[in-house]
Amino acid sequence: MARFTFFGGKGGVGKTTVSAAYALRCADAGHETLVVSTDPAHSISDVFDQPFGDEPEPVTGHEHLAAMEIDPEAEVEAHLMDIRREMEAQVSQVVVNEIDKQIEMAHETPGAYEAALFDRVIRVMREEADAYDRVVFDTAPTGNTLRLLSLPEFLGDWVERLIEKRETSLDLYQKAAIGKEEPRKTAENDPIIHRLRERKEKFEFAGRTLREDADFYLVLNPDELSVAETRRAVERLGEHGLSVTGLVVNKVTPAPDEDEHGRGADYLRARVERERERIAEAEETIPVPVVARIASRTGEVTGPLLDEVAAELGIDVDD
Ligand SMILES: Nc1ncnc2c1ncn2[C@@H]1O[C@H](COP(=O)(O)OP(=O)(O)OP(=O)(O)O)[C@@H](O)[C@H]1O
Ligand SMILES: [Mg+2]
Repeated sequence: MARFTFFGGKGGVGKTTVSAAYALRCADAGHETLVVSTDPAHSISDVFDQPFGDEPEPVTGHEHLAAMEIDPEAEVEAHLMDIRREMEAQVSQVVVNEIDKQIEMAHETPGAYEAALFDRVIRVMREEADAYDRVVFDTAPTGNTLRLLSLPEFLGDWVERLIEKRETSLDLYQKAAIGKEEPRKTAENDPIIHRLRERKEKFEFAGRTLREDADFYLVLNPDELSVAETRRAVERLGEHGLSVTGLVVNKVTPAPDEDEHGRGADYLRARVERERERIAEAEETIPVPVVARIASRTGEVTGPLLDEVAAELGIDVDD
């Protein structure tokens, strides 16, 4: 049983609900559990009817359970302020003004958001996670999740190239400076290389942890679009060396009893039949087992309904 569990899937399929239900199962089994929302449209707070912030807080009414919500906007802000502080210490005021402009623009850079979010996820895995037996991540819809999880590989390579570039430029500087009375600038004492190496090490840690100590579940609904998207997600995660542990089919229509007749019952029967076909199709065409089927409820899944869903979520939570 991996310590980190990720739930992904397309928008609205029930990732947050299933993450909360799974975290609840872990906690009820006596494991100290933290559930982390990485979705900008937060709803772990809605599920538990309690506000959560950037630090883990105990979930009221549930033993062994804590929750936190990462705010990507705030992360990007903090990230860029960090860079600004660091650069200010090294350059003149004129350059600082220019940097401010660049930083303003960097807010809008595609990827800044994911990178900052990913940094925070890594910090959770490295720091906050120490106090817990299980950490459950409720992720943003599929596209973002895939990007997020493929980042260690991507960023690791990128940082590696930056290090090489910096080493080359230091080398050139060194050659040009021969004969002058200046302290030697080498890769060993260069603060930029030091920082880049730190980042590279961080991404390696993330890549290793995701490969070795994490389970990935995809949540889907029993309809054609959702099955197709899940199949693609499994393939793409596979391309990044991440294998999906199981599929959770959520919002499955309950069948009417045999002796129920009338339009409503006929409608439900036809619907149940269609959904069965979709689930069978998922089982035949996606090389990942369906580990749970959760029935559709008539209302929002919170409070006691969450306990019911947790009971239906047949994922083993023990080692
Ligand atoms: N089994 C279920 N029966 C009935 N309603 C459900 C069920 N599972 C989830 N819901 C409801 O569906 C809505 C979407 O669920 P949820 O927020 O968990 O999805 P999500 O995948 O996290 O969405 P998003 O992509 O927006 O983050 C919520 O109102 C939730 O209460
Ligand atoms: Mg959600």
